[in-house]
Amino acid sequence: MVTVFGLGFVGLTTALGFAHLGYTVYGVDVDEKRKGTLRSGQIPFFEPYMEDVLNEHLDKNFFVTDDIEEAIKNSEYVFYCVGTPYGEMGSADLTYLFSAIDTTVDAIKDEKFRVLVTKSTIPPSTTAEKIYPYVKSKGKIADNIGVANNPEFLREGHCWEDFIEADRIVLGCNDGRSKEMLLDLYRDMNIPIKCVSHSTGEFIKYLSNTLLATLISYSNEMSQVADSIGGIEIAEAFKILHMDKRWNNCDMTSYVYPGCGYGGYCLPKDTSALYSQAKAKGFEPQILKNVISTNDNISKAIVKKITSGLNRDQAIGILGLSFKPESDDVRDTPAAKIIKAMIEAGYKNIYTYDPIAIKEFKEKYPSIIVNYCDSAKEVYDNSEVIAVVTAWEEFKKIKEFGDKKIIDCRYML
Ligand SMILES: NC(=O)c1ccc[n+]([C@@H]2O[C@H](COP(=O)([O-])OP(=O)(O)OC[C@H]3O[C@@H](n4cnc5c(N)ncnc54)[C@H](O)[C@@H]3O)[C@@H](O)[C@H]2O)c1
Repeated sequence: MVTVFGLGFVGLTTALGFAHLGYTVYGVDVDEKRKGTLRSGQIPFFEPYMEDVLNEHLDKNFFVTDDIEEAIKNSEYVFYCVGTPYGEMGSADLTYLFSAIDTTVDAIKDEKFRVLVTKSTIPPSTTAEKIYPYVKSKGKIADNIGVANNPEFLREGHCWEDFIEADRIVLGCNDGRSKEMLLDLYRDMNIPIKCVSHSTGEFIKYLSNTLLATLISYSNEMSQVADSIGGIEIAEAFKILHMDKRWNNCDMTSYVYPGCGYGGYCLPKDTSALYSQAKAKGFEPQILKNVISTNDNISKAIVKKITSGLNRDQAIGILGLSFKPESDDVRDTPAAKIIKAMIEAGYKNIYTYDPIAIKEFKEKYPSIIVNYCDSAKEVYDNSEVIAVVTAWEEFKKIKEFGDKKIIDCRYML
């Protein structure tokens, strides 16, 4: 049996994934609204297939529970999928993780061996230098506890397929018993499993996310180089770059393409956390430093492009609020940075539309005051200049509405 702490994108996918494999799974969360939504058979965010899978397993072998003692008593595996947001100086904030570990340890009342597995993204050395000593410090009970990490590589919008058909499963373990238990847990999945040290497991996740962030910042810097020289067809140049056989079929080309900078929950905070971690350990990574500053500056360059030649009363249209299409996630979304910067510069007449992320955007950024519209056409009709900020497919027809000035920040038209 499995207990999963945190029922967000990663935790819910993990919980339902194990339920799908036939295990009994207890889901724990501190967010009452989220638990209520799940108990009523709904998903608290936009994610294809997940509602069907939830309803297949809810109250059969997946239970959203408040009885943590009962869940822990029955479980051999405890997974942590809680948030690890920005902390001090850009580091990872581990408060939620340690709070969930505390809750677990307090709930253990017997001698059964359990493995505590961190699936949340945590900086390299966290399991070895913080979690393991912390759990050990809890006294004799620690002899019955193994600690491991199992980083998650899923993409929002593809959570279910990325769990069920993962490219690889990484297990960061330092004891044989936890390793054998985790290999056993995943045995029916037929996915390559790599067992590595605690810190290697953590590092692999950052290796992946910081490379993606680097590709994005590289592409954005190159688009600015091209802009500064002039006469360069930027979208065409990148599409021709993608024709190189060495890129074909690897499905990474969307990261090697200019846009509004990386956003969403993971790339910004993880790039920042690894930079901060390396710096704290005595090495300042120069590439990561510039990846971050390029990303911070791209929204300013975009605002300059959008507002060029406009007076402060003229209306600006912003199409797209989520950090990527097919998602309602607005965490660290470039749209928020761009709109905030425009408002700060005195442009207050802003119209915006997103197919599914308006509700999330309003909730997450209550201080951003803009006119929310029901369609891209309404934005177009009300604005002097329209900027495409998220690459939603439906924005491809924006040029059909007329001949107003359009700033294609995603190079998609
Ligand atoms: N979102 C992704 O695409 C993705 C992909 C791979 C890895 N990750 C990593 O996985 C982790 C979770 O990400 P997410 O997007 O699922 O986050 P999320 O914000 O969607 O979900 C986190 C959940 O944890 C809950 N929580 C917080 N403290 C808790 C506690 N003490 N006990 C129980 N529940 C608690 C929150 O209420 C929330 O529902 C992060 O470390 C993230 O970096 C995310």
